[in-house]
Amino acid sequence: MDIWRIRGGNRLNGACRVQGSKNASLPILAAAILAPKESTLTNVPRLRDIDAALRILRCLGCETDQRGNEVYINASGVTRSVIPHELMLEMRSSVIFMGALLARCGEARLSPPGGCQLGKRPIDLHLKALRRLGAEVVEQGGEIVCRAENLRGTEIVLPFPSVGATENVMLAATAAKGETVLRGAAREPEIVALQDYLNKTGCRVRGAGSGTIYIAERRSADAVRHRVIADRIVAATMACALAAAGGEIELLDVSPRHFSTVLHFLKQAGCDIMCQNRGVRLRSDGKLRAVGEIRTEPYPGFPTDAQPVLTAALLKAKGTTLVRETIFENRFRQVPELRRLGADIRLDGQRAEIRGVERLHGAVLNATDLRGGASMIVAGLSAEGETLVRDEGHIRRGYEALDQRLAELGAEIRLE
Ligand code: EPZ
Repeated sequence: MDIWRIRGGNRLNGACRVQGSKNASLPILAAAILAPKESTLTNVPRLRDIDAALRILRCLGCETDQRGNEVYINASGVTRSVIPHELMLEMRSSVIFMGALLARCGEARLSPPGGCQLGKRPIDLHLKALRRLGAEVVEQGGEIVCRAENLRGTEIVLPFPSVGATENVMLAATAAKGETVLRGAAREPEIVALQDYLNKTGCRVRGAGSGTIYIAERRSADAVRHRVIADRIVAATMACALAAAGGEIELLDVSPRHFSTVLHFLKQAGCDIMCQNRGVRLRSDGKLRAVGEIRTEPYPGFPTDAQPVLTAALLKAKGTTLVRETIFENRFRQVPELRRLGADIRLDGQRAEIRGVERLHGAVLNATDLRGGASMIVAGLSAEGETLVRDEGHIRRGYEALDQRLAELGAEIRLE
């Protein structure tokens, strides 16, 4: 059990380099199965989810090595196409190995990822798309078995821009005969990052970020070296921490464009935002105003992953903010915990109404999930007294050394 001990009241000051993106690294680690030669990835964050993905790669027969934020993968020895149940349980987003295994081995066997704290998390769009490519997908006895002697290019239309389904199509279609056109695709920066990596491995993918992605038959390629983009949700978390605590920080090595909707609301709330090419400077007096209505949407809309941390930053904002969650059915689980700090949040299904309070006071909280846990740390920074967040490892799934990063900026925080 991790205990995050925060004493609120300190302002944040200084510069912080934003870690590499978890959600860009994971699909690229799966895509490494397709690389004909070894891959060296840099700026890979040290996280529990990355460790889980590397365990899966080794289980499939890959050789992996990790030194600091550099990861080396040689997939020439891939011999298996089965992901053991216990590894699937560790990380539901392992479902993106399905498309890569289909392309590399012509088959994939894994257990359904199942729901998580955020909701059911179905993968019907993934399976329907893979069948469109000619895969035979059977769900039997609690296992998903996919087979495809030869995948063939086709047109696929996603009814919802699912990030994972987009990634699985991109990975599987690299082995299809003929071109695949994927319409209604997710447009997240992590999708563009996957395209960039795949093209370095000899694939021919274009259009990522536009909503329509074209995947042609691949060519051969040499060894690959690829730098993972910065984590826009970690950047959003640090920005919300600054807004809540007050002070002035600079976030380095991250593109402001990748979290522009978060910056938009922080500016509306009263923060000064100065965007540069590879970073952003933010200033806040800690006295924020409510921002009206926030609605989570697929990229380039406001990201659902930043909703908990922005909500936490607005708990003392003057006025009322309405938050509508449209992506996950269970993304307000952190609300009862935030109320223990004195927050005034009213829930009505997928809507949360935040009425700003004068003060928040420290309390003992239980982390509910990755971003919910981060929201409790953000709120604790602006609460009077000490806040303890009891956490079964959720936060370290997505945040590399968050306690150190915040402490370096002047926060009184310790991970025990
Ligand atoms: C990715 O999850 C991210 N995870 C999530 O981040 C992020 O919240 C999410 O995209 C939305 O941006 C990774 O990249 C590893 P989706 P993913 O498929 O791919 C429904 C974090 O905190 N859906 O876009 O699972 C689904 O139920 C994590 O880092 C179907 O109905 O998201 C959900 O309501 C949390 N059928 C919505 O779409 C499907 O086949 C979004 O899902 C697939 C999805």
